Amino acid sequence: MQDFYEAFYRLAPHSSTHAEFCTRVFGQNLCQHGFADMHQLDMLIEGLELKPGQSALEIGCGNGMITEYIADRTGAHITGIDTIAAAIEQAQARTTSKADCLTFIQGDINALALPASAYDAIILIDSIYFSNDYARTIQDLGAALRPGGRLAFLYAYGREPWVAKADFPVENLLPNRTPLAAALIASGFTVTARDVTRQDYEIAQRRKAVLTDLRARFERENLQFIWENRMGDANGVIQAVEDGMHVRCLYIAS
Ligand SMILES: C[S@@+](CC[C@H](N)C(=O)[O-])C[C@H]1O[C@@H](n2cnc3c(N)ncnc32)[C@H](O)[C@@H]1O
Repeated sequence: MQDFYEAFYRLAPHSSTHAEFCTRVFGQNLCQHGFADMHQLDMLIEGLELKPGQSALEIGCGNGMITEYIADRTGAHITGIDTIAAAIEQAQARTTSKADCLTFIQGDINALALPASAYDAIILIDSIYFSNDYARTIQDLGAALRPGGRLAFLYAYGREPWVAKADFPVENLLPNRTPLAAALIASGFTVTARDVTRQDYEIAQRRKAVLTDLRARFERENLQFIWENRMGDANGVIQAVEDGMHVRCLYIAS
């Protein structure tokens, strides 16, 4: 997957076709590689109640366009972390004039060395999946939160195509039973969940229609690998929702 992200962040930000894809699917081009549209991002911002001058951390920030949007909207200082060096370099180069509110650092969610009690909010948008151990990561995040601080996750959980339907634990689709919710609750967090599964399905359908429309343009730019990756995600979500084996939530944990 690291090879995919290296290539994605090297090429996607320079592609007018990918920019159009993001605008039409998510509502604005922030070089998204997750599943969050502008409505979900705005719900997350509302749930965090970040204030100007406060400090936040975003893990899995990619090339930082979402980070920049959240900093612009809230007035908070945000540090973005991602494992892909090229994405972090792009974020740094693009935001030199905003250095007072944005910092970008290369880092790995599985080897976090965060300052203690430093952040009012920590944000993970479709990136907790890269943690090898949710309990350990939540412990790291909790130690980096200031008293009263909040964690925010946009997160989906569902049957992957290679898991037999009979083996998928449908009882864990309840918003307070997903692997992430269970790990947060076990770590002592109080969790509120907003179920956005219906919107996730609609976004996946829109994604499929827009990709179908833009296929020839992706091919002309030699970006078939992005087209295939994004179409695979759309089909996976559509199939899992139609099977009743998928949930997506905004979690705010405090
Ligand atoms: C699904 S994308 C989501 C990106 C962005 N948050 C968004 O919503 O568009 C996952 C992100 O996590 C990053 N990532 C993957 N493995 C990681 C790791 N071990 N530590 C930190 N970030 C990682 C990827 O480079 C990518 O930017």
